[in-house]
Amino acid sequence: MKLTILGATGSIGASTIDLMLRHRERFSCYALVGHRNVARMAELAALVEPELVIMTDAEAAEQLHRQGLACPVESGMEAAIAAATADRVEMVMAAMVGSVGIPAALAAVQAGKRVGLANKECLVTAGRLFVEAAKASGAEIVPVDSEHAAVWQAMAGHDADSVTKIVLTASGGPFRDRDPSTLREVTPEQAVAHPNWEMGAKISIDSATMMNKALELIEARWLFDVPADRLSAIIHPQSIIHAMVHYRDGSVMAHLGLPDMRCPISYALQQHPRLESGVGMLDLASIGTLQFEEVDEVRFPAMRLVRDVLAGGDSLAIALNGANEVANAAFRQRRIRFTDIVPLVEAVVAETPSEDVADFNAVQAVDASARSLAEAMVMRTIY
Ligand SMILES: NC(=O)c1ccc[n+]([C@@H]2O[C@H](COP(=O)([O-])OP(=O)(O)OC[C@H]3O[C@@H](n4cnc5c(N)ncnc54)[C@H](OP(=O)(O)O)[C@@H]3O)[C@@H](O)[C@H]2O)c1
Repeated sequence: MKLTILGATGSIGASTIDLMLRHRERFSCYALVGHRNVARMAELAALVEPELVIMTDAEAAEQLHRQGLACPVESGMEAAIAAATADRVEMVMAAMVGSVGIPAALAAVQAGKRVGLANKECLVTAGRLFVEAAKASGAEIVPVDSEHAAVWQAMAGHDADSVTKIVLTASGGPFRDRDPSTLREVTPEQAVAHPNWEMGAKISIDSATMMNKALELIEARWLFDVPADRLSAIIHPQSIIHAMVHYRDGSVMAHLGLPDMRCPISYALQQHPRLESGVGMLDLASIGTLQFEEVDEVRFPAMRLVRDVLAGGDSLAIALNGANEVANAAFRQRRIRFTDIVPLVEAVVAETPSEDVADFNAVQAVDASARSLAEAMVMRTIY
């Protein structure tokens, strides 16, 4: 199978490439797409031997070009879109971070590709457009997020109409037990240090605020076409069970695995037969205990907010995502405190009229206004 990897220089990109290299006989690479990480891309190009390399940042592309790679180097988002829709490409791994990744992922879906969707912001903000585009083109959208890959597997071969509840697990992040009165002092370095998963900076901070789980619940609504009142989350600190699907007869199908993204990515790449992924054997006896607890919505207000967002129009999810991207980045730049992130997002959502969106222009308009509102709030915040 020939792939284009969007976000190849990131954490999901690294796991995808690890799997490709383990199975060179099954997978080959058309294009690797990165943004600015020139050193990493040079390393990957030598390992993977793609037909084409793209850096969406022009200066980074120029620097890479000067290194004399064995394949052509192109630049810009248009080139990324072309690489995601090229005739020879059978599968696209959509793993850029943030809503900047939407146009290329959507173009791949419109072109009828099989699309591994790691970039959760796609479905959160433009879920309706992705679902409609997949119906029209025959594209297959396969979940890469571990929780959604788990739901997908727990639903395989089962009757979707018998599902009574989908439960996504959440580790609770690094501050699950920390005294809430001290959260104001949390640094970006502490927030990025996730207890179970090694991930990019943005998603690690989203896990610490649990905004990540809020985004995942919205994502699940589009992927599995279930009403919002059948979606919930539960804290499970060991991150061994990734999701559970409850059925009408009282049965619950759970998916278990060590927290390693190569597990869901390998299933996204190929379901039958399953691939050897390099993920270690799960040994429940040595883990001993699996714990679960209700999500405390006072500690994690993002989970309260997402219920209102799920009950409203598409614009609320777009505003939540755009404001969160601004707030997450502002926290990393030490312009706002950790405890400012969710209230800021909530304030932007409250200012956003609730309506569904019909096209990508409408998505962009709501996104732009949420971001400028969020940016204005960041400017007014006293650090
Ligand atoms: N990591 C996980 O375990 C995990 C799990 C589930 C879902 N996801 C989702 O997968 C996506 C990727 O996450 P990640 O953890 O792999 O992120 P990451 O390690 O930060 O990598 C992000 C990738 O996006 C590229 N990128 C950054 N800004 C860009 C821009 N303006 N234009 C184009 N490309 C840009 C980066 O390129 P450069 O590095 O070259 O600048 C890099 O290749 C996110 O949506 C995340 O929510 C991640």
